[in-house]
Amino acid sequence: MGFNIPRGTQDILPGEAEKWQLIEAKAHDICRRFNYKEIRTPVFEQTELFARGVGDTTDIVQKEMYTFNDRGGRSLTLRPEGTASVVRSFVGEKMHGWVEQPVKLYYTGPMFRYERPQSGRMRQFVQFGVEALGSADPAVDAEVIALAMTFYEELGLEKLKLVINSLGDKDSREAHRRALTAHFEPVQDELCEDCRTRLHQNPLRILDCKVDKNHARMKDAPSILDYLNEESQAYFADVQRYLDEMGIGYTVDETLVRGLDYYNNTAFEIMMEGEGFGAITTLAGGGRYNGLVEEIGGPETPGIGFALSIERLLMALETQGVELIEDTPLEVYLVTMGEEAARRAPSLLQELRRAGFTADTDYLGRKMKGQMKAADRQGAEVVLLLGDNELAENNINVKDMKTGEQQLADLSSLTETLRRTLTTKGES
Ligand code: HAM
Repeated sequence: MGFNIPRGTQDILPGEAEKWQLIEAKAHDICRRFNYKEIRTPVFEQTELFARGVGDTTDIVQKEMYTFNDRGGRSLTLRPEGTASVVRSFVGEKMHGWVEQPVKLYYTGPMFRYERPQSGRMRQFVQFGVEALGSADPAVDAEVIALAMTFYEELGLEKLKLVINSLGDKDSREAHRRALTAHFEPVQDELCEDCRTRLHQNPLRILDCKVDKNHARMKDAPSILDYLNEESQAYFADVQRYLDEMGIGYTVDETLVRGLDYYNNTAFEIMMEGEGFGAITTLAGGGRYNGLVEEIGGPETPGIGFALSIERLLMALETQGVELIEDTPLEVYLVTMGEEAARRAPSLLQELRRAGFTADTDYLGRKMKGQMKAADRQGAEVVLLLGDNELAENNINVKDMKTGEQQLADLSSLTETLRRTLTTKGES
């Protein structure tokens, strides 16, 4: 009997894993330049954290969480996103007391949502996200957006569309909320069951409903932009001005509401334009969450961040035909002939690897011909041929696979010989 991989998950195999490494390296690199520091939090948290943080009325909390009781009877949940955990840590570690503010953090790691799997929608997916806590300067909003856009661009992704909106501050949201309730109340019987609940709990969510999205009342629903008070308007204008000055193009979309409850003021998504990407075109999402730290038990602290999934990024890169890597070549393959030589192989390989070479050998006891074939298949740049005779003389044959040239080298200075051979190849 065999076992199936759980629905909505995937194995990342050699060939593909190198792309992940490259993307993760790019994430570390971009965060270094923007001065964001890495944080690693557990993959599970108290369930209540997400109910509070992400919001009771969201699909994530109501339908998509992997929740279980541990053996001590505590309700725990596999994290569906990273922001609540980062804020939990910010509060617990009293980061609001750190000298350097805002506290700028980033993370990469698996998230879990019980969603209907489809292309670009997994049950386990890896997010790269950043959070900046402790400043309400619109320049930070622009910085976070710029970080995301620069990350994609440097990986070679094109046809990106940045969509921004403002959800306003508390007062603006309250005014908008009242207007939405008044707008949908007369037709509530025509709305889906979820939306009837949302009407009183969180009417903004109605605008994001997949079932009712074609309802006649959706089109002329009150726009948040008409309810922004002066302060929120000025804030939104500042964010846009900074983006303009940074040369980052964007579209304002007043219907962008995001799927999580903690947002206010700036909300944004980065989409991919163009054909061939399947139904899902949103690559990244984020926004400001000025009330979240308080909600989770900390002092009033503004925050903003975004997250993207590496799965969707890879899909986008593939759709656009962007090649992330050339094969990392195997530099050295060690072919041995004879018992003594075979016995010397592990220690010789260890020396080579310590010296920085990508090196391998045969572990199946194949004859020389079979070993040469393996070296060839793996594209080895240099083959080392070690027989008992050479070994006795402290020598080894170094064969440059590109030119076919072979030289007898002294084993004690092998790394220098290899370095010379591989450099010459690179130059030719
Ligand atoms: P989110 O919009 O729920 O926001 O997710 C952010 C990104 O995660 C999405 O744009 C998408 O790339 C990816 N994603 C979400 N669900 C899946 C899935 N099932 N399969 C593959 N990829 C997925 C958040 O999670 C917020 N924490 C973002 C944030 C950070 N806001 C402020 N700070």
